[in-house]
Amino acid sequence: MGERAKGKMNVGVDLGTSNLLIYVEGRGTVFNEPSIIAVDKARKKVVSVGFEAAGLVGKVHDKVEVIKPLNGGVISDIDMIREILLFTFEKVFMSSIDSINKLLICIPSEITETEKAAIMKLGHELGIENTYIDEEIKAAALGGGIDIYTPSGHLVVDIGGGTTDFGVLSLGEVVNSKSIKIAGDYFDKQITTYVKEKHKLEVGPQTAEKIKVALASLTGDLPQDEEGKVLTYSAMGRDLVSGLPQQVSINAKEIRGILLTCFEAIKATLISTLESTPPELAGDLVDNGIHITGGGAHIKGVKKYFEDVTGVEVQISKVPMTAVINGTKKLLKIDKKHYFGEF
Ligand SMILES: Nc1ncnc2c1ncn2[C@@H]1O[C@H](COP(=O)(O)OP(=O)(O)OP(=O)(O)O)[C@@H](O)[C@H]1O
Ligand SMILES: [Mg+2]
Repeated sequence: MGERAKGKMNVGVDLGTSNLLIYVEGRGTVFNEPSIIAVDKARKKVVSVGFEAAGLVGKVHDKVEVIKPLNGGVISDIDMIREILLFTFEKVFMSSIDSINKLLICIPSEITETEKAAIMKLGHELGIENTYIDEEIKAAALGGGIDIYTPSGHLVVDIGGGTTDFGVLSLGEVVNSKSIKIAGDYFDKQITTYVKEKHKLEVGPQTAEKIKVALASLTGDLPQDEEGKVLTYSAMGRDLVSGLPQQVSINAKEIRGILLTCFEAIKATLISTLESTPPELAGDLVDNGIHITGGGAHIKGVKKYFEDVTGVEVQISKVPMTAVINGTKKLLKIDKKHYFGEF
């Protein structure tokens, strides 16, 4: 691998709150793991990243810290983002990163100018001269198979881990966008609070996520087990009263109630996005439909939920959690003049 010609690789990155994905032109998506890093604080050394680091959450001793450098779509620790990228690049390329020609990092629409500058600086610090950033929602639309370069409005809703992003695109640009911090991590927190209050059981964030993934639904029949009964999940945690380990059964009806409350905010923001979209483009949305992507697109009944809310046809991304990274593949092919104008 060290033989790879210098400056030949074009690389796309989806720096998500929950998952980090890396695409290399000619090789495909080479990394798709949680955006988590474990570091040895005293020795200032990276212990692990991705799945390995995620497995350490809540299980490390004083010397090792497990960090999620993105929170709610916001960069909370740029140093750790640098470390996570350095570590994964070296792991993925098995050689020095100077073999990267072009690096495209997708970022949330609402990110501040300071954060944008920090990401750009990071690329340069890594020694990659051609570092570019572009909007996640645009990449998600392209990755979802939408032709965004026509003069016709398309609405994409990306329900991720940290944020739910709403973007109206036309002629290759984001014309209107909104972002709220009601997404996967927030759903998990609401589940944790509910289980604590209702079942007097304390559960960790990973257990809350497992409950959600197993039982999540918004409309239609509740998920059922093989006997036709409402599906349940046995969650392990600590009994609040006795302080001892305890198992509690949570059912899909309880989780639907929690999610429906969370989705009120998503629904309200979707409606306000439609209200603030220029009328001609809003009209196009009736023909083009609304496209849902991100991990939240996996929730059962999400299509009908949004169709009931808007009266517009809804399409669910075929591979919701890889839409952004697949979009980078297309963006990397386009002449940089067309979309990197401001940088
Ligand atoms: N089957 C499922 N049902 C419900 N939620 C799911 C399912 N699969 C994944 N998720 C949730 O999707 C979220 C991750 O989605 P995604 O990878 O799109 O986020 P991200 O891109 O890392 O975050 P962001 O875009 O907000 O920065 C997590 O909260 C995860 O729990
Ligand atoms: Mg995302």
